[in-house]
Amino acid sequence: MTAQFPAARPRRLRRTTAMRRLVAGTRLHPADLVLPLFVKEGIDEPQPIGSMPGVFQHTRDSLRKTAHEAAEAGVGGLILFGIPAVKDARGSAADDPEGIVQKALGDLVSDLGDQMVVMTDTCLDEFTDHGHCGILTPGGEVDNDATLERYAAAAVAQARAGSQVIAPSGMMDGQVAAIRAALDGAGFEQVPILAYSAKYASAFYGPFRDAAECAPQFGDRNAYQQDPAGPVGEALREVRLDLAEGADAVMVKPALAYLDILRQVRDAVDVPVAAYQVSGEYAMIEAAAANGWIDRDRAIMESLVAIHRAGADMILTYWATEVAHRL
Ligand code: PBG
Repeated sequence: MTAQFPAARPRRLRRTTAMRRLVAGTRLHPADLVLPLFVKEGIDEPQPIGSMPGVFQHTRDSLRKTAHEAAEAGVGGLILFGIPAVKDARGSAADDPEGIVQKALGDLVSDLGDQMVVMTDTCLDEFTDHGHCGILTPGGEVDNDATLERYAAAAVAQARAGSQVIAPSGMMDGQVAAIRAALDGAGFEQVPILAYSAKYASAFYGPFRDAAECAPQFGDRNAYQQDPAGPVGEALREVRLDLAEGADAVMVKPALAYLDILRQVRDAVDVPVAAYQVSGEYAMIEAAAANGWIDRDRAIMESLVAIHRAGADMILTYWATEVAHRL
């Protein structure tokens, strides 16, 4: 039988800062944070992103500097997104050895050595002129199986350029298997796959589409990303399929609105689980704080603690460097 009041007084363990620190059950560590970074081809100066104050589209030089700062702060990894100068229907720049992601990877990998893990998002939406995550059928649908070959080629190009983790985010069926086979066939059997397994069709990606210039030119992503109100068990099904296809780690995205999913996934698998605190989550806190409506620093830390507590081993967050400094 648990003691009752007045013998039981939970407040005893909350009275002082030192006591709260001692009994804390959730601790953030810089090494668990991953910083998403954008590099844009053909610009001379970093470009601020209006809907994400403090986040930039980088030049190759400013990317190196920003990655170095993150590494110095102890951030565990970065994930790279590229915006090519020229887009086309098949997203040719995604697997071009001279493409912006591949060039920037070369810089980062030689600069950073073993200081932090350099990951790449593997998708086509930043590279296609129509802004969808794959190859289109004549009717304007995303053709799952034709897209797999493009993802496989992009993943191999990224691995060849030095990417240390391939993170497919396009939500095509079979994408992990296709990428695993292609990586192995090209001699990259040691490069792991972090699968965006449970990725929802979310309004919270809005600002990212400014950052990566990848808003779909028609329609939406509802036919390939998960419905927030979708079938119970769908996230776990996606996770299990990705693990069966060879994923080394899995991701839930977005984070704060999907903490239930994160917990389910954490309890169901024995691989590392990542959560992506996405652009809209960042923008909401920044915007409210800019209006004086919320305590910015506390809101940032509280959101990250919640994501970690719900089960994320790794958290992708645009605040990674700032938070690493604060920890
Ligand atoms: C797809 C991709 C997206 C994000 C990460 N990878 C956009 C989308 O699915 O529409 C969103 C990340 C964010 O909002 O911060 N390449």
